[in-house]
Amino acid sequence: MAASNSDDRLADRLRGIPGTIFSEMSALAVRTGALNMGQGFPDRDGPESVVESAVEALRTGRNQYAPGIGVPELRSAIAAHQQRHYGITLDPDSQVLVTTGATEGIAAALLALVDPGDEVVVLEPFYDSYTAMIQMAGGVRRPVTLRAPDFRLDVDELRGAVSDRTRLILLNSPHNPTGTVLTRSELESVADVAREHDLVVLTDEVYEHLVYDDHEHVPLATLPGMFERTVSISSAGKTFSFTGWKIGWATGPRELVHAVESAKQWLTFCSGSPLQPAIAHALNHEAGYYDGLARELEKKRDRLCEGLGVLDVDVFKPQGTYFVTTDVRRYGYRDGLEFCLALPERAGVVAIPSQAFYDDAEEGRHKVRWAFCKEEDVIEEGIRRLAAAELGA
Ligand SMILES: Cc1ncc(COP(=O)(O)O)c(C=O)c1O
Repeated sequence: MAASNSDDRLADRLRGIPGTIFSEMSALAVRTGALNMGQGFPDRDGPESVVESAVEALRTGRNQYAPGIGVPELRSAIAAHQQRHYGITLDPDSQVLVTTGATEGIAAALLALVDPGDEVVVLEPFYDSYTAMIQMAGGVRRPVTLRAPDFRLDVDELRGAVSDRTRLILLNSPHNPTGTVLTRSELESVADVAREHDLVVLTDEVYEHLVYDDHEHVPLATLPGMFERTVSISSAGKTFSFTGWKIGWATGPRELVHAVESAKQWLTFCSGSPLQPAIAHALNHEAGYYDGLARELEKKRDRLCEGLGVLDVDVFKPQGTYFVTTDVRRYGYRDGLEFCLALPERAGVVAIPSQAFYDDAEEGRHKVRWAFCKEEDVIEEGIRRLAAAELGA
């Protein structure tokens, strides 16, 4: 019998979901020896004391299964962090859940809270795991587009996207890839809509500490009446530059956190046992690290924006995150993918075509995302290569 095409065997829930663009473009960087200015991982690891803390945990018998909800010291540290930064009081035993990165928290929340056919209102451009997981949960996405040049939330569009089939709003602020930090007034509009339609909001705040200038990250859960209907997701990956450790968390009211845990227990049960106490240490003792990181990244953002400005592209300066978006149309390209595929050979640089993050092909087609969570000399070299390259279409 002829072996069937593996695609024939693929379950419907996975059909049509493209592979992650990050793996594809990072593989292109490795294959061509190009500088990876696309994927959002830092070149430098986080604080030494956190690594030491993990080593100690490895050496002192913290190597077996952790409790499914996370080790007690990490849950306490997460609760203390929410209290210290945002005045949110959490019971570490029932309102905090440790997950395998933010990714698992988002996946478990969507599996727990969305039934087949339910609609999920989600900001576009979207972080790619959202679309995959909404589909795997059987949900239907209803995008609300953040449009160039300022990528603000259009509240009328948000209202228009909500129907009687809407189950959940999936928010992300600071927002990847646009760098938008939703303002208090934008968040109040989201809260109004959520309260009016009795919706749960899942809010991905992994870039909570990477905010620049005088912009402020406001957790949605701090708005009146919102704690009860909000699941907040964050992670140590971006805050402490340990993206490979995949230690994340979901927080919120007991019933919602319990719902997320109901799904999470069957996904991984637990992970990263010796890394969890190390992240507890990081949250309790290394707040200075992420403050310093944000100031450093702000300078790198400015340098990359300035450097990209020498190309004839429109550069949209972000308020938070690691990412800058450019529009390559003025440069003669109709398509960001075409630009990104030409980039390694012509300039020895890799960037990410943002169209992968859009349903609205026209809105996304000509945008390209660059990352500035890189060492200064890497950014300088990237800028030098871009300036020297023959890049016109
Ligand atoms: C918006 C957003 N959410 C979630 C993640 C994934 O977080 P983690 O590595 O903690 O799973 C990322 C990583 O790039 C991200 O940009």
